[in-house]
Amino acid sequence: MIKKLSRKYLGEIVVLHQEAIYPIWDKLNCGLSNKEVKDFVLDVFLNGDVYGFFINNNLVATIGFELFNHGNKCEISFILVKKEFQRKGIGKQLIDYVKEKFHKKSNIIFLEVLKENPAVNFYKKLGFNIIQEKNNKYLMEKRLK
Ligand SMILES: CC(C)(COP(=O)(O)OP(=O)(O)OC[C@H]1O[C@@H](n2cnc3c(N)ncnc32)[C@H](O)[C@@H]1OP(=O)(O)O)[C@@H](O)C(=O)NCCC(=O)NCCS
Repeated sequence: MIKKLSRKYLGEIVVLHQEAIYPIWDKLNCGLSNKEVKDFVLDVFLNGDVYGFFINNNLVATIGFELFNHGNKCEISFILVKKEFQRKGIGKQLIDYVKEKFHKKSNIIFLEVLKENPAVNFYKKLGFNIIQEKNNKYLMEKRLK
């Protein structure tokens, strides 16, 4: 079940970052500190929306996004699925949810991803294209209309 999250989930979302993305950051020698992650997620709560995927009332995945250009463009700020729940279609369901929610308003969904993050293949599979390279990151986007 997907539902909108309130700020009371901030701590759990930081833990999801630690479990799902810190190992990748460690491997690639980059990333944010706990404090920076907390501030970043808070910023998404303030300026965008955060949704969670629940199984048996447990938060197992989350997606945060912000709208720009009067809602024409939607940026995925983070998407994280707990390790043991990855490759079960949950990430795709979260992206589809955002797409469904905004396809009438937004033309483009975009995001930044580390070039060496395996998630690049996930985004490609879902129809995102690399439109720009920025140092160690790709800017990827998917046109909805
Ligand atoms: C990236 C992430 C969100 C994908 O979520 P997920 O629930 O595991 O992905 P799905 O099961 O919905 O995958 C859909 C399709 O994408 C592709 N895919 C997903 N993860 C992949 C990977 N690591 N490598 C290659 N292809 C991948 C697969 O083709 C998959 O279909 P299949 O399982 O039938 O082969 C998840 O792996 C994750 O949380 N990763 C760690 C955090 C992270 O890197 N987030 C992105 C930061 S930009």
